[in-house]
Amino acid sequence: MAGQIVIRERLPRDADWSEGVLVEAWGSGRIVTRGRLHDANRQPALVAESAGRPAGLLTYRTEGAECELLTLNSILKRRGVASALIERLVVVARDAACWRIWLVTSNDNTPALRFYQRRGFRLVAIHRGALAAARALKPGISAVGIDGIPLCDEIELELLL
Ligand SMILES: CC(C)(COP(=O)(O)OP(=O)(O)OC[C@H]1O[C@@H](n2cnc3c(N)ncnc32)[C@H](O)[C@@H]1OP(=O)(O)O)[C@@H](O)C(=O)NCCC(=O)NCCS
Repeated sequence: MAGQIVIRERLPRDADWSEGVLVEAWGSGRIVTRGRLHDANRQPALVAESAGRPAGLLTYRTEGAECELLTLNSILKRRGVASALIERLVVVARDAACWRIWLVTSNDNTPALRFYQRRGFRLVAIHRGALAAARALKPGISAVGIDGIPLCDEIELELLL
């Protein structure tokens, strides 16, 4: 049973756990989006807890009046963890007077494309060949992703606030 999901800000005591989630999911906390390298472990983050245990992590950053969702990972899948994290990010971004939440995901990540669109995000752009530029900043990005799909492009989505 997932129990009630509680969303809170990441705390200093979450640092090791948070780093572990990012390394496990993305190879490291270094995340490349739109040709820029971000250390997701040093950016603001939301933690989902279920039964007192961390169950999900969302990292983000704000620049100007835009909020970029950098990473989203659920440990306890299909229990509403990621949806609850998104719902809280909407509140956080509105409070910061942002006009949109945006993100990029790689072209192979069809589950994420489905997930975000089911939650109101719209496709904005396909940044063709962006993964080649990303590899220059983060050489560990593999050539092939989910379902054996070649990793080539960034797909940008946004949720207007
Ligand atoms: C994509 C991802 C973040 C979704 O996380 P999640 O916590 O499983 O998401 P949720 O539980 O909120 O929603 C997933 C589905 O479970 C369903 N669900 C939620 N609670 C449920 C419950 N109690 N029983 C059954 N289904 C439930 C939701 O309705 C949703 O289905 P829908 O999209 O058809 O509406 C997760 O699969 C993940 O970590 N993927 C790997 C990392 C990644 O790709 N991140 C995104 C790119 S940054």
